[in-house]
Amino acid sequence: MLTRLEVKGFKNLLDVKIDFGPFTCIAGANGTGKSNVFDAIEFLSYLADETLAEAAQRVRGASGSPGGDPRDLFWDGYRDGEHRISLTAEMIVPAEVEDDLGVIAKATATFLRYDLVLEFKSPPTGRGVGRLGLAHEELRAVKRGDIARHMRFPHSAENFRDTVVIGQGESDVFLTTESWEDLTFIHVHGDRGSHDQPPPRIAAGKARRTVLSSVTGADSHPTIVAARREMQSWRRLALEPSALRAPDGFAAPRSLGTDGRHLAATLFRMAVETDHDVGVQDEEAVYAQVADRLSDLSGVGVESLRVEPDPAREVLTLYLQERGGLRLPARALSEGTLRFLALCVLLEDPTVTGLICMEEPENGIHPANLPAMVELVRDLSVDATERPGATNPYRQVVINTHAPGVVQLCDPDDLLLAETRPQRAPDGRVVSALSLLPYRGSWRAKQGGPTFSKADVIPYLVAPPGAQLRLSSETEG
Ligand SMILES: Nc1ncnc2c1ncn2[C@@H]1O[C@H](COP(=O)(O)OP(=O)(O)OP(=O)(O)O)[C@@H](O)[C@H]1O
Ligand SMILES: [Mg+2]
Repeated sequence: MLTRLEVKGFKNLLDVKIDFGPFTCIAGANGTGKSNVFDAIEFLSYLADETLAEAAQRVRGASGSPGGDPRDLFWDGYRDGEHRISLTAEMIVPAEVEDDLGVIAKATATFLRYDLVLEFKSPPTGRGVGRLGLAHEELRAVKRGDIARHMRFPHSAENFRDTVVIGQGESDVFLTTESWEDLTFIHVHGDRGSHDQPPPRIAAGKARRTVLSSVTGADSHPTIVAARREMQSWRRLALEPSALRAPDGFAAPRSLGTDGRHLAATLFRMAVETDHDVGVQDEEAVYAQVADRLSDLSGVGVESLRVEPDPAREVLTLYLQERGGLRLPARALSEGTLRFLALCVLLEDPTVTGLICMEEPENGIHPANLPAMVELVRDLSVDATERPGATNPYRQVVINTHAPGVVQLCDPDDLLLAETRPQRAPDGRVVSALSLLPYRGSWRAKQGGPTFSKADVIPYLVAPPGAQLRLSSETEG
């Protein structure tokens, strides 16, 4: 769970600090930087896995090809001079981790703060494309005495916090940076009890990837591996009708892709497979729960649904029995219905945990169905008053939107208003950059910090003049 993100110098995130709870909705006009927040989260997730160059190329809007220009990611990156991106994530990581070789180990602490600074290195000849360099990297446990101050969203200490925050000491460090003359080294510390040897150190200037992404052994570094696993679980869901409609063979992966692929195979697995971690599922009950949730969408009239294997063609097909008597494969459904159905399946899948970012969930949804959609994305996130588990999957959701209807339906505590506001750049210029304002009086609001009120949201809730639909009889005469 990502509880806080601090970003400096990434795209139009000149200097932002965001507190996340189980559910967050970032609302704002076009071009304010809502998706850039998702890009920053996604960038951190890629950096936990890939080289600096590969991670940079995968970010939305970056040049997108080998040899692409990393300056796309830096605030005002094409201006001469030094450029740095600083990313900080405070996160609650899984307590038990399995590394790539199947070694299972326990993290020393689960509430961690990860700091990363990247710099742009110009090409030595002044020609060609520069590259990304590692300037600073740190991973520390949040001190036991600071937990309450850092975990600000409303939650139950007994049911929630004590289940997910485990083992905090007073001074655990896992990665630290040291500068020596003009060289920078990252030290890799073993978990508690393995301090007998000096920690290996890595020359930051030579690193092609983050040190965190290069640590793979859970036996000696379980907490670093747990942080990696957590960051790898941050995903951006972009449900695509073509992927949602793609057929699933018997051998298809049985979990939903970020574009909605493998919907039928996922639901089939949920219904028929007994997962000992999450308990025995009753096949009919699984289908009934998904069908029930789908029927919240008015205009769909679903009686029941089920996945049917076709042994001759070796395909799995999701069929819907409509109330009117029609039986149709799910691929015949409308785009909006298919997206809603995919989220209903996600909701009932206890194996889906971690952070899910979702762009504009209102897309393709009729205004009458907005309440059902907002309730569904909210319900996807963990209930922090209860213990996380099979019936309360440990999931976090961040959505963004520019729909007044969504803003109106969200709990003000869950809202952040995205605006571009004048800010002072490191070189002294006053420039326009992303600001995220919490609702006045909500847990996200800081004493004395800027907030928004109902009066500020009103312009969002009012459609611009001329945007209202008119019936032809009104426009005539
Ligand atoms: N490297 C950069 N430096 C400074 N600003 C940048 C950089 N890259 C992008 N931007 C700014 O970010 C803006 C786009 O932000 P983003 O795509 O997050 O908008 P959005 O809020 O998601 O909008 P929409 O609602 O249209 O999707 C651009 O208009 C541009 O001003
Ligand atoms: Mg966007």
